[in-house]
Amino acid sequence: MGLPRCVTLWEAGPRDGLQNEPGVVPTAIKVELIERLADCGLTHIEATSFVSPKWVPQMGDHAEVMAQLKPRPGVLHQVLTPNMRGYEAARAAGAEAIGVFAAASESFSRRNIDCGIEESIERFRPVVEAARRDGVKVRGFVSVVVGCPFEGDIPPQQTAKVARQLYDLGCDDIGLGDTIGVGTPGKIKAMIEACARLVPLEALGGHFHDTYGQALANTLAALECGIARHDASIAGLGGCPYAPGATGNVATEDLVYMLDGLGIQTGVDLKKLVQTAWWISDRLGRPPASRVAKAMKSKCL
Ligand code: HMG
Ligand code: MG
Repeated sequence: MGLPRCVTLWEAGPRDGLQNEPGVVPTAIKVELIERLADCGLTHIEATSFVSPKWVPQMGDHAEVMAQLKPRPGVLHQVLTPNMRGYEAARAAGAEAIGVFAAASESFSRRNIDCGIEESIERFRPVVEAARRDGVKVRGFVSVVVGCPFEGDIPPQQTAKVARQLYDLGCDDIGLGDTIGVGTPGKIKAMIEACARLVPLEALGGHFHDTYGQALANTLAALECGIARHDASIAGLGGCPYAPGATGNVATEDLVYMLDGLGIQTGVDLKKLVQTAWWISDRLGRPPASRVAKAMKSKCL
């Protein structure tokens, strides 16, 4: 089918997952989750975000999380930084990879980061410049790539334009976020094709939320387009506090089960992932959203 032979997984659970919990998860649990995810073989882990604690109190312990993480060769801990203030705090905490996050719709941009798209790009410019100067890797996210909770359907060209702006700023890769999980494979393919006309395909990644149960199908569609970087969240945790109704990313264990079945290498141990999904879910007091975690529970625990 012309699918990539190996896929780089970005684990989003500790950030995208725990930012959406109703309560604040204790720092020690966050840190243990990140360590356990690395033990599963995940090499790219989104650890926290250096956003305003007034906006997202769940991530208010960002510096403590970073301070308690053991340095781990071969594992990149990435953090979100919406502005220079966040970048400086992230660097002081030792971050070596950051993410800036824009949106394909004006309304979502204003709700999420309190400014319009063009202003957000100008706000990210010094952040990305500083990161490049400091040898820090930078991801650029585009949210609501196919649908927005406030504006509805988003034309592919609108998403592609923002993806290109982030790429031109100097982002190493562009995460295409279906923030509210409304995409279906045809729409995702059309959006990726539009982006790939303006940004090299190798620089594009998928970040698909599973609100409507489409995230695995959408990931397969993206794989068929040649996208080899995908975000996922352990146990399917997550959502964005500023995207009403959004649930978590595709569960990491569901995605790895599918990739294993397709013979696509990830370097990740499925059994350990399932154990980790149950470990964090037990701490949060509910079962994982993941089908694979439930199906494999008796074989793994
Ligand atoms: P603002 O209110 O316009 O900013 O928020 P401000 O400059 O007026 O600052 C307000 C207060 O926050 C001030 O404090 C600042 O000092 C402080 P005060 O003077 O009132 O005491 N502040 C900060 N504190 C800590 N760290 C900072 C920081 N910046 C300002 N970096 C701002 C603008 C961007 C800060 C705010 O809108 C914000 O933090 N937004 C973040 C929202 C968020 O985290 N959303 C979820 C992540 S994005 C996501 O989930 C989507 C993604 O997964 C992809 C997808 O699914 O599509 C990535
Ligand atoms: Mg997200």
